[in-house]
Amino acid sequence: MKQTSWNLSKLKRQAINNQDFDEYILIQSGILENEHLKVLDIGCSNGYKTTMLFDKYSNIELIVGIDIDEKAINEAIDKFEGNKRYKFKLKNIDELDDTNKYDIIYLSYVLQHLRNPKETIKKLKNKLSDRGIIIIKVPDDSFKICYPDEENLLQQILKLYEKEIMPKRNITKYTDRYIGKKVLNYLETSGYKDIQLYYSISDTINKSKEEKIKFFERSIAFRRANEKDNITLEVKNTMDNLLNKVKEKFEDENFFYTMAVLYYIATK
Ligand SMILES: C[S@@+](CC[C@H](N)C(=O)[O-])C[C@H]1O[C@@H](n2cnc3c(N)ncnc32)[C@H](O)[C@@H]1O
Repeated sequence: MKQTSWNLSKLKRQAINNQDFDEYILIQSGILENEHLKVLDIGCSNGYKTTMLFDKYSNIELIVGIDIDEKAINEAIDKFEGNKRYKFKLKNIDELDDTNKYDIIYLSYVLQHLRNPKETIKKLKNKLSDRGIIIIKVPDDSFKICYPDEENLLQQILKLYEKEIMPKRNITKYTDRYIGKKVLNYLETSGYKDIQLYYSISDTINKSKEEKIKFFERSIAFRRANEKDNITLEVKNTMDNLLNKVKEKFEDENFFYTMAVLYYIATK
């Protein structure tokens, strides 16, 4: 099925925001100490994040990116036409066979959108080279905390999004916003080794009012449904109301919000 509605400028902003920690994880993995590395970036979109993270390492000799979003992947294909180091392909993760092996298999904010994340992780083991690592970056909304929040606004927003918005949209119909904690089990039961888990924590401490609002926008307010098809007016309005109330809280000096992104590294 075609997926054309990922907002590429939002993904770009997110990639820029995450770059420092993404790079830290890549270095921590130790894989960059090797030569002649091959990377497979699954769900690479238009390749913006792929190049930002991997391009500068000259010991990475091949970077393959696949995605099912035609518009996004075609941007990458056009941009890197004739470049032997990069290969971008319109391909579903389910269509990968075991022919080529990779030293770095990278999934950034992709696993949570797949229909069978557990089976996918198992299958990907066969695509790792003997020295290879898999890096998986995932969200988990259980790590989001607002305080004070007497009306339980945050949970109301998360639940409304999960029940009334996510399942109605093609690109998020399988999305699991609580996948972070489950990946450990998926990796262990698939026989991966040397599993490491890192947390990138962000919070409102020492942020200016402007920074807090930006943080609110990227971490909570993307659930706004105004411009999304297929959503009832009632849901749109309820979501707007809830978000406006939480936004006001972010402007309050004494309000605290924190969240985490989970990064797994494993070998086969
Ligand atoms: C939230 S975006 C993340 C993009 C990029 N990895 C990043 O971190 O900026 C999720 C991407 O996964 C892709 N995707 C979803 N399901 C996929 C599948 N079954 N096979 C390949 N790509 C998939 C989407 O098309 C989308 O580009």
